[in-house]
Formats: sequence, structure tokens, C-alpha cells
Amino acid sequence: MTTTLIKNGRIVTAVDDYNADILIDGGTIVTIGKSIEANADKVIDAKGRLVIPGGIDPHTHMELPFGGTSASDTFETGTIAAAHGGTTTIIDFAVQGKGQSLKQAVDAWHAKADGNTSIDYGFHLICTDLPDERLPEMKSMIDEGVSSFKLFMAYPGVFLVDDATIFKAMGMAGENGGLICMHAENGVVIDAIVKKALADGKTAPKYHALTRPTKAEAEGVHRAIALAEMAGSSVYIVHLSCDDSLQEVTRARDMGINAYAETCPQYLFLDYSVYEQPGFEGAKYVMTPPIREKWNQEKLWRGLKFNDLQVVSTDHCPFCMKEQKELGKNDFSKIPNGGPGVEERMSLIYNGGVAQGRISLNRFVEITSTAAAKIFGLFPRKGTIAVGSDADIVIFDPNEERTISAKTHHMNVDYSCYEGMTVKGVTKTVLSRGELVIEEGRYVGKPGKGQFLKRGLAFSPR
Ligand code: URP
Ligand code: ZN
Ligand code: ZN
Repeated sequence: MTTTLIKNGRIVTAVDDYNADILIDGGTIVTIGKSIEANADKVIDAKGRLVIPGGIDPHTHMELPFGGTSASDTFETGTIAAAHGGTTTIIDFAVQGKGQSLKQAVDAWHAKADGNTSIDYGFHLICTDLPDERLPEMKSMIDEGVSSFKLFMAYPGVFLVDDATIFKAMGMAGENGGLICMHAENGVVIDAIVKKALADGKTAPKYHALTRPTKAEAEGVHRAIALAEMAGSSVYIVHLSCDDSLQEVTRARDMGINAYAETCPQYLFLDYSVYEQPGFEGAKYVMTPPIREKWNQEKLWRGLKFNDLQVVSTDHCPFCMKEQKELGKNDFSKIPNGGPGVEERMSLIYNGGVAQGRISLNRFVEITSTAAAKIFGLFPRKGTIAVGSDADIVIFDPNEERTISAKTHHMNVDYSCYEGMTVKGVTKTVLSRGELVIEEGRYVGKPGKGQFLKRGLAFSPR
């Protein structure tokens, strides 16, 4: 077992902020103290840098089959990119095909991920086929460490499940310490709007956004919360994009309902004008929910600041412009939905949040790591810097600037949503269970070193 000593850093967690050294042995943090004297195998000087818990991105889609193609990052390429950006844990979404058992679905995702990742990973399970007799399988999945499930109110005929199924699944999850993650959008109404747009000859990428009104999302959020309340369970809204939806979550939380929600960098930094770019450029931003009008951004930041939103994930689901997004050249509804982002999350949120004075440093750590660890059953193994926790540690330079570009990123995709944006705050060195994955910006890890995380029961941070 190798030992590593991180010296002279400023340790920041969701609650702490102090200068100390960290001694790591066998993958876990064994001592935190002032001026630790130890004969470690490796010494890292973190002077002038922040030492923070590794980022946790609880919403990724590596190799997701979608719209006749598959997300372009594999577990190998996607986790290397994540590590470059300071993320040391992802929770990816396994998908149940129609007629498949839940175990078959999770096994299929193990076949994609196991032995290929450079950082640790867990799975949620997207359930698409949940007749009554299959509901008890949810408990077996929770026992195997897949303690959260995503259900869709969108994509009729593909992912959508009806309200009765959602209600029953919420009850089953709630009784057994699981959590339902909800894709909240009224997909039936959206499909009717999409059909009408296409019939009127509206085929350009911008119509993806114009056919998915914020009310369709907010109605889904409202319904998801109401169903959770009736089922006596919690609910976690994924990729919340706009103020209309945030108001539903805020109202529920003010009433004491266990509603949680995440937003994503694309909704904090991009606005509807991306769809008005010339030609087919708007296809880069065809993701669901779509990018909203600019005024929503500050509302979402406010939600993050005051804990109506708990988590920033990425919904990383990359498709190349060439040959993938191009599938919808003549019909926006055929553009595969999703965009890249797993690599940029920490820098973007540090830059837009801390450097620009919207949130504190502690809150930055909380929304990029700690809250996800707590909600998804990984805390305190992950999500903090404490004696006994996994040594998933990011050494972060809060003063360095870098310009985001597809030319230099590590994600396997031919564009960046943030091309040319300069951000302050750069991940320099990353350890995953005590082993270096990124050293001064250079990948030094090894695919296969990442481990599957059998997660504990979901619980509410507050
Ligand atoms: O457009 C998106 N978000 N693609 C990924 C699938 C999903 O709904 O999360
Ligand atoms: Zn979704
Ligand atoms: Zn997603």
C-alpha cells in the first residue's frame, strides 16, 4: 500500500475551510493535521491551492443508445475526461429495455463499464417496463447498490411510463430506501406540439426548443411532486432548466415535502440565443429540456444559493455533430438529444459561482460533490475530506485561467458547448482512492482502476 502526503493546502469541504496536511494510506485518508511529519511514498505540495473533495457527477450517459446512435463517450474516454475536470465519481444511467428484467439491464451496464473506468462509478437504473410483478425487482436492485431509478414522463413509446406506474414505483422505492429521479416533462403534449411544427414545415434545430415550453416541464415537476406526496416518498427532479419548474420545487420544499432537484451548467451559462446561430449550429444544443431564455439563469443560481436546488450535475450525453447530430439535418426531432459537459462542470461552477460572487466556496463543494454523495448513498465515503473517507481529492488552482475548447478537451466529441469561454479555476491534480489520476493537468491514471460503487440507501441532506 502506498502512502501519500498532501502538504500546505487549503482544505475546503461543504463546511470547513482551513490549512492542513493530509496523509493517505491504502486509498483512504488516515490523518489530517498541521505539519504532518511522515515518511510518505509521495509528497504533493498544494501551496496556494484548494484541496477539495473529488467532484461527484450523478448524471451521465456514457455509451447511451439514443435515436439510432450511441453517446460518443465510452466509459473509458468519458471517465478520463471527467477526471481532467476534477470529477472522481460518476453515477451513470443503466437502461432497461422493454421486456428486460432490472438485473439484465444493470448487468448490461456492468459489461460496458467494468474494467474500463479511471474513476469510481455507480449506476441509477432507467425503468421503461414496470408491470406490477416486476416492482419487487426494485428492492433487489437497491440491495445490489443501485438505489435510485429514473422514470420518464417524456418520450412516449420509448421511455415514458404512465402516472400509475410512477406512483407505484415511488411507493416501492420509498419503502425500501430507494429514490426516484424524474425526467419531468409532459411528453404527450410535447409530442403533439412537435407533430404540428413538423407539419407546418418547421424543421430547424431551434424548433426543438420552441416545441418544449417551460410549462410542459413545470407541469411534469408539479405532477411528480404530487405523486411522490401521495406515495409517501421523496423525489429528485433531474436536469431542471427553468424558473417555472424551480417555483414548483421551492413551493414543495417550503411545505416540507421531500423534493430535491439538480440543474446543469448548460442551464446556468447558455441561453435560447444558441439556437439562433446560423445553419445547423443549433443542433449542438439540442438536449432535453432545451436551453431557456436568459433571465432563468439568475433564478437558478438563486435556487442553488438558497438550497432549493441541491446539486449541479452535467447530464453528459455527447453526440458528435458529424454523423450523429447530422441525423436530424432535415428534421429537428431526429437530432439525438444530449450534449457534452462532464469535463467542464467544476471549472464552470467555480468560475460562475465563486469567482463571480454568487455562492460561497463551501457551497461550491456542496453542490458539486457533498450533496450528491448524501442524496445517493455515498456519504461519508465520498463527498468530503475526513479521516476514513476515500482519498478522492482534487487540488484546484483558484487563480489560474483557461479557455475551453474542443481542440483541447478530452471528451470524445467534436465540439464544445462553451467554445472560447475563459474560466477562472482549474483542476491541477486528482487522486482517486489515493492514486494519482491527473498530475499537474496530465493524465497518469489507468482505465480499469475505477471501482463500481455499491451505494447505500438514499437519504435526505435536509
Ligand atoms: O437530452 C438529454 N437530456 N439526453 C439524455 C437523456 C435524458 O433525458 O437525460
Ligand atoms: Zn432526462
Ligand atoms: Zn440525462
